[in-house]
Amino acid sequence: MSALAQEIIVDPNKLSQASELQKMVIKGGNELNGRIRISGAKNAALKHMVACLLTDEPVNLENCPVNLGDIKMQAAVLKTLGAEVVLREDGMAMIHAKAIESHVAPYDLVRKMRASVLILGPLLARYGKAEVSLPGGCAIGTRPIDMHLDALSLMGAEIKLDGGYVKAEAPNGLKGAEINFSKVSVGATENIMMAATLAKGVTIINNAAREPEIVDQGEALIKMGAKIEGLGTARLVIEGVEKLHGITHEIVPDRIEAGTYMIAVAMTGGKVVLENVRPEHLTTLIGPLKEAGMHIEQDGKDLIVERNGVDLKGFDIMTEPHPGFPTDLQAQLMSLMTICKGAGMITETIFENRFMHVPELIRMGAEITVHGNSALVRGVSGLKGAEVMATDLRASVALVLAGLVAEGETVVNRIYHLNRGYEKLVEKLSACGADIRLA
Ligand code: EPZ
Repeated sequence: MSALAQEIIVDPNKLSQASELQKMVIKGGNELNGRIRISGAKNAALKHMVACLLTDEPVNLENCPVNLGDIKMQAAVLKTLGAEVVLREDGMAMIHAKAIESHVAPYDLVRKMRASVLILGPLLARYGKAEVSLPGGCAIGTRPIDMHLDALSLMGAEIKLDGGYVKAEAPNGLKGAEINFSKVSVGATENIMMAATLAKGVTIINNAAREPEIVDQGEALIKMGAKIEGLGTARLVIEGVEKLHGITHEIVPDRIEAGTYMIAVAMTGGKVVLENVRPEHLTTLIGPLKEAGMHIEQDGKDLIVERNGVDLKGFDIMTEPHPGFPTDLQAQLMSLMTICKGAGMITETIFENRFMHVPELIRMGAEITVHGNSALVRGVSGLKGAEVMATDLRASVALVLAGLVAEGETVVNRIYHLNRGYEKLVEKLSACGADIRLA
């Protein structure tokens, strides 16, 4: 495997310890003006990486957000299993799972990054054996993996829980089955779609998730030789094949990163051109933002986002599986709502505990009342800088957005959450005029 461009060294322990001590300091009040290039989607890249376990040939992933903590962590998981992984500064991830030396994703890695449970499907399909530490709860909710396990059992896997590990075996290989998911799950859909590509016979997934990242993954799997029909619909039909082969694939742009910067401009004012955006993946954000008073216009692969002068009006949003409003933009939208005219109601239907940003925003002067899974946000005339901290990625970035418009200085602690999911956040925002730095 050649690696001409500069290789990124994967050392997840060192990384997370270093950034745990770092803070982000923001002086609010600057408009954003300029251009921001959107990276490849983290939540697609993580799945493409594990899909490489399905083939013994090399896979090249272009437009991979290689600087993200989660991507480096996934690289560490794949290396633990014996795959060769090279992450390059130019955004290329080169992965070759020629032979697998271990079938175990250990506790220490899984607890840091839940997406490693997605090795279950591919490893069972190709090797008939996989062990993954049970991920446990996380800051945004309990997040069980029962749907993944039930579906794999239906496909013939024998699964037991032992010492905190899911131990799965399919000595005679996986076989196709009809799976009826009780709710829409991104991860379970992906895990089973991957497993089904190499299972014997046909697998049908009913009530499948339809997120653009799943469509992107399905398209890559089809390039690898998989037979999948119904991508982007709630019914996937997958006919197992003998073998998949290596490919080069360009990862879909990150709609959540793009949405986050759109909301940033809505808050600060100014004009930013977002490069490498698929607006059709963001209709549930673009529609309400335009109605609230923003100017948003597509120009080829660019999206021009502008708010000059106008005051935005508050509006109501409910998170839902795609094509509904994404839960991964809920916290950022709440930051925006705190400074809109009038009130807005935000209802979270995906995760039971995804309002941890509320008390921190209140400390910055926001007026928010939570009733169960809804938050009523009454717009205030301005936020005030404060020292804040959040316990997950999207909540953390919501506080950064609040800091961009708050009077005075905002210090965001625990920024390792941000490093997990936003590539070059400080560089991208300061290039557009934000006063933001690491300390
Ligand atoms: C993915 O998580 C994303 N993560 C999340 O992004 C995102 O918020 C979520 O999808 C919803 O869009 C990655 O892609 C790595 P789910 P996932 O399975 O797959 C319940 C971010 O900030 N459920 O669609 O874990 C579950 O508890 C992250 O980038 C079960 O009950 O989410 C939740 O309530 C955070 N049993 C709902 O389904 C199961 O077996 C949807 O979860 C699986 C899920």
